[in-house]
Amino acid sequence: MHGKTRLALTKGRLEKDTVQLLEKSGLNTDILKNPKRKLILDIPGYPLEIILLKGSDVATYVEHGVADLGVVGKDILLENPKPVYEVADLGFGACRMAVAGPPAAAENGKKLLRVASKYPWIARNHFEAKGQSVEIIEQQGSVELAPLMGLSDVIVDIVETGNTLKANGLIIMEEILKISARLIVNKVSYKTRRVEMNALIDMMEKQAAEKGDLG
Ligand code: PRP
Repeated sequence: MHGKTRLALTKGRLEKDTVQLLEKSGLNTDILKNPKRKLILDIPGYPLEIILLKGSDVATYVEHGVADLGVVGKDILLENPKPVYEVADLGFGACRMAVAGPPAAAENGKKLLRVASKYPWIARNHFEAKGQSVEIIEQQGSVELAPLMGLSDVIVDIVETGNTLKANGLIIMEEILKISARLIVNKVSYKTRRVEMNALIDMMEKQAAEKGDLG
């Protein structure tokens, strides 16, 4: 078992809000604001070590107990479920999972719809539940390009501000679900480090709730 409690953070989209949450919780986050490309960061004055990862890897590290806790988007947890406890909705990172496409795609009524997505499971599940046959074309990024280039009819993707869709002449055709950042914990750590884990979970939940109250 590692020494300090270890928290895995998602780099990028959720990073700033998570650091802010930790700072408001009273932790010294200076090192997190300027990590200088370091991926393992010690929080001074608190028995906590932070590791920075891509979202899909956060859940994997927590699943294996290499990290005790993690902050990750609900989209990642739905697309690739892992045997971890989801203990809190942190509220930030709010966005929508949606079907989007060029305005003309709404009327094409195709029997077999071609859908580009970074979320193949969520996309297939959504359309199959409606009885729509789909060909899922898995993408790693820049998904909005697919219908513009004729690779797909529509996309299933996350929409935050809507700016990317707008800039590329695409519209939301259907909202699938709401997404936000979640706090996840390793099942074994939750028992063996109960005191430290609960202190950290309570602290983060409290700050998240206060932030939510302020809007
Ligand atoms: C995400 C998503 C959209 C965009 C939505 O991509 O896949 O492309 O952000 O955000 P918006 O509604 O605020 O414009 P990301 O920035 O993660 O990059 P990627 O395309 O490389 O995956």
